[in-house]
Amino acid sequence: MVQRFLKRRPAAFCRVLGAALLFLFSLTLSARAADEDGYRLWLRYPLLPAAPRTQLAARTTAIVTLAPASPTVDAAREELQRGLGGLLGRTPASATAPQAGSVVLARGADLALDTAVQLALRTLGPEGYLVRRTRLQGADVTLIAANGDIGLLYGSFAWLRVLQAGGPEAIEAPTLASKPALPRRLLDHWDNLDRTVERGYAGESIWNWWELPDIVDPRYTDYARANASLGINGAVLNNVNAKAEVLGAPFIAKAAAVAGVLRPYGVRVYLSVRWSTPLELGQTKSADPLDPAVAAWWRAKADEIYRAIPDFGGFLVKANSEGQPGPQDYGRNHADGANMLARALAPHGGIVMWRAFVYNPPSHPTQVSDRAAQDRASQAYDQFKPLDGKFDANVIVQVKNGPIDFQPREPVHPLFGAMPATPLMMEFQVTKEYLGFATHLAYLGPLFQEALRFDTRAGGRALTVAQALAGGQQGRIGGIAGVANIGSSRSWSGSDFDQANWYAFGRLAWDPQLDSAAIAHEWAAQTWSTDPRVIEPVVALMMRSREAVVDYMTPLGLHHLMGTGHHHGPAPWVDNLERPDWNPAYYHRAGSDGIGFDRTASGSHAVAQYAPEVAKRFGNPATTPPELLLWFHHLPWDYRMPSGRTLWEELVAHYDHGVQEAAAMQAAWEAVRPRVDAGRGKDVSRRMARQLIEARWWRDACLAYFMRRSGLPLPAGTAPPAHPLEYYQALRFPYAPGRG
Ligand code: GCU
Repeated sequence: MVQRFLKRRPAAFCRVLGAALLFLFSLTLSARAADEDGYRLWLRYPLLPAAPRTQLAARTTAIVTLAPASPTVDAAREELQRGLGGLLGRTPASATAPQAGSVVLARGADLALDTAVQLALRTLGPEGYLVRRTRLQGADVTLIAANGDIGLLYGSFAWLRVLQAGGPEAIEAPTLASKPALPRRLLDHWDNLDRTVERGYAGESIWNWWELPDIVDPRYTDYARANASLGINGAVLNNVNAKAEVLGAPFIAKAAAVAGVLRPYGVRVYLSVRWSTPLELGQTKSADPLDPAVAAWWRAKADEIYRAIPDFGGFLVKANSEGQPGPQDYGRNHADGANMLARALAPHGGIVMWRAFVYNPPSHPTQVSDRAAQDRASQAYDQFKPLDGKFDANVIVQVKNGPIDFQPREPVHPLFGAMPATPLMMEFQVTKEYLGFATHLAYLGPLFQEALRFDTRAGGRALTVAQALAGGQQGRIGGIAGVANIGSSRSWSGSDFDQANWYAFGRLAWDPQLDSAAIAHEWAAQTWSTDPRVIEPVVALMMRSREAVVDYMTPLGLHHLMGTGHHHGPAPWVDNLERPDWNPAYYHRAGSDGIGFDRTASGSHAVAQYAPEVAKRFGNPATTPPELLLWFHHLPWDYRMPSGRTLWEELVAHYDHGVQEAAAMQAAWEAVRPRVDAGRGKDVSRRMARQLIEARWWRDACLAYFMRRSGLPLPAGTAPPAHPLEYYQALRFPYAPGRG
């Protein structure tokens, strides 16, 4: 029958066949969309609709590389081929000379003639780039230009970013020009040598130490691409709670294999080191930084590392903190320790990132004052401020964004702006140890932005944290680091929305002035869809998400209310741990008289560590922002809030609001879900359903406990907790992830 039909009406047959194939093709396409698993992150490069595709095709007739070949230039060209190939549905050819509509990769040195471009490049430094439409050797081209190879890679990614996010100007007349504000933009992996990840919620470590260096997972290349797309230029491969073995020859060889993969993408490898390594390996008799044998051991070790990894970045050190050994064990200070290591690395151009996350038990021999010893929040400042100016030039002091520990909200760390003669590095936590692991949706862009834009008022002048990092006082330029949320989970970060936190960290590391909502917008456009009916609600829910978490976990400046050890879920009642400053009860101090930690002159006086204007503002409850109130003040339950409510009523209202927000976010996602691919859509839905359950749990457990402490009933009309306090107190989580 088919043959007869074919004979009589061949054209009609072809039409029917064509339609059938198209139908089958579209089925394949939708099946492919349903299968998205997040692996491609924001580098998905989906096929453009017909009209912009035709436009882009005319502007990408060939890729011309004027810059001499190098692994980095090759990576740039390959990414353009991959990205444009996806957007166009065909891979542009390579050519050797500019022609009409070509894309040209060229460094300043390759472009002797075009003075306008040369002038622009002069302001863009070693890593910056520009992308613009211009005439080159008589041809109308899209030029990606930079001073160095890495700028060509960054510029390629930047153009692909705007092409993916849509908009005809990105195709017809791109005008991008950018350079990073800070030279060191790092991810810190808290990855152990057995592939567990401390505070990791995305599966095992991506570093397969056991198989390295012989077997190199292709995922390392995709990791490097993702980082380069944001401008992240360093990776500390192992946990700050480091093991001595990482500096043994086998692990140096493994790290060198990883470095070989990351190098073309501009990502340098760094290692966390354990202070007592030579002593533990039995190669010195002490770990005293002033012992010449110890210094000689570190010099030889640095030489050995640089033989294997010539562009090795340097060491990250956690010393005299949470039980880690350090120079104070020998009566020396942090500068003695950091400088000894820095001198071993200096001949090779390496740096030491010395962490200021220190708080010793009061009984431990330190130089802290008695009063500060009573408040964990004061200790870093007390130990480090006197050392300002005493560190070698290649030491950066790495400071967490807040004075306690990556809480859902903290005030900015008082060390920012307080050490003008020392380069400082911001340490953010991208992994959500305290914000619901990878199950809760919490976009951290607003948290990062809040810290970077905080005005320290150091020296009585405007000086934001971002400016302080960039050397705004005495020109000591620091950097920025993020504790990675990356693992071997197929979606890299454990959930699709957690990818946004990696993305936002990287974008803000490059340009701390960027707006977190704009970052969410560009991430959503690349990751989900360019359909405004997707982007707008997705951005809206991202932008409310962090505050929702603050409200249902730790509103009004409360902090450290989480479960012991695993840090999952509420446990404000815990007050029996061996160290007072490990107990939630130490932080909230709730009793019949009120709630909050008095850090004013009548309490620990930690507030005095801020610049006078800030100290004055935070020292008075009336001028303290309500979201930080109980961080700085212990107030009676009937304290009148600006809203007119009592403190108790306000606290309850915040907990309720947090739960309402979790429910509203879930509803917003369900409305968007039909417009995104089924695979990722469903995964997000499941996580948000659990987030709502856990938001209620936080609210109910905290309110049950605070009712008990305050002796107050819930305000009229408030839903009582689902269970008695004892129910929540009895919950145990021995297998919660992330304990390392
Ligand atoms: C937190 C975290 C630890 C980590 C520490 C650090 O306390 O819970 O797992 O080791 O920070 O930053 O050193």
